[in-house]
Amino acid sequence: MMCADPSVLSSRRAAGNVRFCILMGISYFNGSTILITGASSGLGSEFARQLAPVAAKMVLVARRNDRLQALESELKARNTTLEVFARSVDLRDQRDIERFCDWLDESGFALDFLINNAGLGDHGPFINSEWERVNSLLQVNINALTYLTFRVLPIIKKTGRGVILNVSSIASFLPLPNNAVYASTKAYVTSFSEAVRAELRTSNVSVTVLCPGPVKTEYLSHATRAGDRSGHTAPFLLLPVEEVVRQALEAAAKDRARVVPGTLVNFVMTIVGSLPMFIKRLVYQARLSRAKPH
Ligand SMILES: NC(=O)c1ccc[n+]([C@@H]2O[C@H](COP(=O)([O-])OP(=O)(O)OC[C@H]3O[C@@H](n4cnc5c(N)ncnc54)[C@H](OP(=O)(O)O)[C@@H]3O)[C@@H](O)[C@H]2O)c1
Repeated sequence: MMCADPSVLSSRRAAGNVRFCILMGISYFNGSTILITGASSGLGSEFARQLAPVAAKMVLVARRNDRLQALESELKARNTTLEVFARSVDLRDQRDIERFCDWLDESGFALDFLINNAGLGDHGPFINSEWERVNSLLQVNINALTYLTFRVLPIIKKTGRGVILNVSSIASFLPLPNNAVYASTKAYVTSFSEAVRAELRTSNVSVTVLCPGPVKTEYLSHATRAGDRSGHTAPFLLLPVEEVVRQALEAAAKDRARVVPGTLVNFVMTIVGSLPMFIKRLVYQARLSRAKPH
């Protein structure tokens, strides 16, 4: 059960619709049962590491079971009372996700924190995409996140209270040429999270969406197509994975709707976001006409 301190719980309840938690950050998740997707690397592993000292149970999901097993040992070394359940699930495969959700139901875990983190990108012109890759983005970034939320929400509601943290991206704030499908899937994640959050405002379930700028993880190498050396990231916006996860957990604990980690990233996105669409189109045109043909 998260936020074990009764004064914290009552302050959150007493605040009614304007809910808040007086405990900031990680201690809010004391005693939680947490499900993290994409836990085998990057942000997902870091969520598990930062939450390990306070969590009671953790369910870790990804395809690479060897990575999950290694993480499980590491987490148990950090917290000897932590129970870890590593599950190899291919989130592109609806049947696999359904089997996993059935297992979750049967396990009877009182989940109170879902981190929908698994995701992947594909950088380059849409016309040159491989359909299998595009389909993986649609399945993992959109379908799996939506279906898991659909299946886990009733569990969280039964638990009494809980948090859903969906990992989106700053790419969700604008159409991005050469990232067309990725940015669109993340626009879905941000929109979906905000809408479900609004629907749940009178309940004890909060939804936060994390919109990071570039973070040094395996994401970029996986998203880069063979032979592409153009480098699709802005190095000056890069943030350490530890900082992104710390800010995300703090925002989730404070029941924030949205978090964009990093002052500079926030500043840049505020400027870019305020530009009218016709200016953005002119910038796209200028950038694409300068770029070498793919
Ligand atoms: N890094 C960035 O610059 C950045 C910026 C903004 C947003 N994000 C978002 O942050 C999230 C985490 O990405 P990351 O940066 O930590 O990248 P990462 O290190 O590549 O991690 C991606 C995770 O997703 C899992 N995953 C991918 N396909 C899967 C599948 N079919 N089934 C199950 N799990 C799958 C991977 O596990 P397996 O390969 O073991 O299955 C891995 O654990 C993503 O949603 C990404 O879009 C990242």
